[in-house]
Amino acid sequence: MPAMLLEVDDLQTWFYTGRGIVKAVNGVTFSLQEGECLCLVGESGCGKSVTALSLLRLFDSPPGKIVGGRVMFDGTDLVSCPVSHLRHVRGKDISMVFQNAQSAFNPVFTIGDQIIEQINVHGRIEHADAVKLACKLLEEMSIPEPERALKMYPHQMSGGMKQRAMIAMSLSCNPRILIADEPTTAVDVTIRAQIMNILLDLKSRRNMSIIFITHDLSLVREIGDRAAVVYGGKVVETGTVENILQKPAHPYTRGLISCLPDISTNAKRLPSIPGTTPNPLDLPCGCSFNPRCPDVMDICHTAEPELLNISNVQCVACHMYTVEKRQ
Ligand SMILES: Nc1ncnc2c1ncn2[C@@H]1O[C@H](COP(=O)(O)OP(=O)(O)O)[C@@H](O)[C@H]1O
Ligand SMILES: [Mg+2]
Repeated sequence: MPAMLLEVDDLQTWFYTGRGIVKAVNGVTFSLQEGECLCLVGESGCGKSVTALSLLRLFDSPPGKIVGGRVMFDGTDLVSCPVSHLRHVRGKDISMVFQNAQSAFNPVFTIGDQIIEQINVHGRIEHADAVKLACKLLEEMSIPEPERALKMYPHQMSGGMKQRAMIAMSLSCNPRILIADEPTTAVDVTIRAQIMNILLDLKSRRNMSIIFITHDLSLVREIGDRAAVVYGGKVVETGTVENILQKPAHPYTRGLISCLPDISTNAKRLPSIPGTTPNPLDLPCGCSFNPRCPDVMDICHTAEPELLNISNVQCVACHMYTVEKRQ
């Protein structure tokens, strides 16, 4: 069995705002094995990006604070370790392509300057070697004429090219884990396919471990080995992608799957899960999904379900299974 690289246990990140406490991440549990792609999936606003930022403590603080949980990496808890240790981990061991990656480039420096700066963050190398490495990385991202691309300013590149350059930059220190937060959201379908191929290739050729964040289950099907479904800041189901797609256990996961387009029936209008995502300023009592759940029971309004194993490859947080267990 592949080694466990990262273990996230009951992570909670709250924002203390003038309007109240925003419980953006409120019980996220998942693990990542060497060489696998773990997908974090859920509707917009459910806490995926804040989860990713929390792994490296990159959210705004204040107002944000990790109020509970652990992130174990290489024998160290990244939640409680000194920031000086995190600086070594960021970029070198765990690297991140941010959700709005294309605007993360500084407009006044060339793409090459910015990639080379990143290469030098964790130990300087000869300038000529850094240029060579930057070229190689851009080439790996299928960017044509990499030498010329290095001399370009961000505004001279198309969105898709910038996104690929950002992935190249995040790979500059050969990280063990790449976190890609919705990397295909702002690009057209051709570039989307290209980026998905790049990530699949990284997994197979470099044995890279990837945390892939998306709201789109069809991308999970394309790239994921395992998935963690997030709702209301909490992981409500984890399992192999095969299991999650074929035997979804949580009513929310079932809802997400019913919204997938079905090419065979040529469905014109997609069904959607009735209701809206919960407000993290005012989460419902008990299970956050209770207002939208087709299988809601009395207990769902009063007690929060725990994430429990229902098989050796699947965990779910739903009272349907806790009630079953007690009987
Ligand atoms: N800096 C912040 N201050 C207050 N609330 C925030 C902040 N960042 C994110 N949030 C809130 O946290 C919740 C989860 O956000 P996010 O993780 O970005 O969702 P997702 O990536 O799943 O779409 C949202 O309700 C968002 O408004
Ligand atoms: Mg997000």
